[in-house]
Amino acid sequence: MLNNNRRRNDRCKNTVKVIFVLIFVAIIAFGLQQVLLYLLRLKQASYLSNSNETSTSTTTPATTTSTPKLLSCEKRVVGFCSDREQKEITRVQLSKITHAVFVNAEVDWEGVVTLSSANRTNRFTDLKKKAKSVKFDVKVMISIGGVENSHEFNKITKREEKREKFIESSLEFLRKHNIDGVDLHWKDNTLDENYMKLLKGLRQKFDDEGKSDNKNFIISITLAEPKFGISMDPFGILNLVDFINVYSMDYYEQTSAFATPISPLYSGVRGRKNDNVNSTMKYFVCDTKKPTKFNIVIPFFVRLYGKVKDAVEEGKEAFRYYGGYPYKMMTRKTLRQEGMNIVNASWDEESKSSFIYNQESENYFAFETKKSIAEKVKFVNDNNLGGVWIRMVDQDDDENSLLNAVSTEEFCKTNSEDVVKNDYCD
Ligand SMILES: *[C@@H]1O[C@H](CO)[C@@H](O)[C@H](O)[C@H]1NC(C)=O
Ligand SMILES: *[C@@H]1O[C@H](CO)[C@@H](O)[C@H](O)[C@H]1NC(C)=O
Ligand SMILES: *[C@@H]1O[C@H](CO)[C@@H](O)[C@H](O)[C@H]1NC(C)=O
Ligand SMILES: *[C@@H]1O[C@H](CO)[C@@H](O)[C@H](O)[C@H]1NC(C)=O
Repeated sequence: MLNNNRRRNDRCKNTVKVIFVLIFVAIIAFGLQQVLLYLLRLKQASYLSNSNETSTSTTTPATTTSTPKLLSCEKRVVGFCSDREQKEITRVQLSKITHAVFVNAEVDWEGVVTLSSANRTNRFTDLKKKAKSVKFDVKVMISIGGVENSHEFNKITKREEKREKFIESSLEFLRKHNIDGVDLHWKDNTLDENYMKLLKGLRQKFDDEGKSDNKNFIISITLAEPKFGISMDPFGILNLVDFINVYSMDYYEQTSAFATPISPLYSGVRGRKNDNVNSTMKYFVCDTKKPTKFNIVIPFFVRLYGKVKDAVEEGKEAFRYYGGYPYKMMTRKTLRQEGMNIVNASWDEESKSSFIYNQESENYFAFETKKSIAEKVKFVNDNNLGGVWIRMVDQDDDENSLLNAVSTEEFCKTNSEDVVKNDYCD
């Protein structure tokens, strides 16, 4: 009897001990988790404040979610995503970019922003959902405009009531879809006074309203190559936008007399020494002294020219004469479907570009490879630029070869600072 009681007592004590141990372990685990979360937040906060992403950035980042997500890259990897390809964007792709930008949102004559069709809305919804479900912090944005949707733009910026409508409508879109920002991509956008009024209004609205949403809404612009000699920033545009995607490609498109690399880093023919990424970025960087605001483009599409002839200048094999026949925009997939391939690319050392010229078929292919992307990524690092923008993520091959070449550890491990090399602007 006594024995029994004691045994029961012992068992009781043991149970109590176990419970205490469990509680102790739970407390430790909870503490550890909090410390880890705190460290993560600290890292993010320092990233945000270093890069001065927003003009009115408060010192603490918005904490809309209780579990902060990791950064996939300290640089900006802005992935433009379309709905042209059959294949939907994948989580793997989203985990390698920092901003997912759904392209070609439309704006009507009143200034109302929409996605035109149910199909496009579906693709956008799919993108949004997937972006939220990856463990990295991917900002989701829409790009308003694009080459085919820019016709109403001047009418909108000119009239105050249309500007207001556009601003209201943009904010409504962000809130309705719970996304992070807008990119303005107007073809031939001239940075005139009206455009600045629109940007100022948009910034003000996003900052004011963002406070109540506990969000730093993002504004970016996609900008045509500069008109050399004219300052781009008479209106203080850099204080209004978080970053600028520079359209550093298609330099020779208008002439249609030459087949060339899409986005040559250096070089040029026929006296066109400034028609390359290096000169374009020198212009922006030296005009503003804010290299971190700018992203250079990495085109993921392939351009095929037909009936291409001799090199324009001796030794510059990548720049060739062609008769001005329409060229074709292709993806790696459509190339395969048409029985063509772009393995064994030639390399042009001067412009750091890959290309293929086939003398028999007179076909010329312009495209990026791992090697040309490595040069662009190095260029961003060397010049303290903010990052790259990709046009388009969904045009990559099934192995994401190009995207993998972009978001390398070497590229992503440090963010840039607004420092310009001493003699760079002389
Ligand atoms: C960020 O902005 C603050 C205040 O405007 C400024 O003092 C600081 O130098 C900026 N930092 C960078 C890295 O540009
Ligand atoms: C919409 O998507 C469906 C299925 O993905 C496709 O069959 C259809 O052709 C698309 N419609 C338009 C107008 O693109
Ligand atoms: C790139 O631009 C910088 C600044 O203008 C210039 O000093 C440098 O020589 C250029 N690089 C090449 C390879 O042309
Ligand atoms: C690429 O080059 C290798 C080595 O020269 C050759 O064996 C292969 O057939 C080439 N591939 C194509 C598709 O031309």
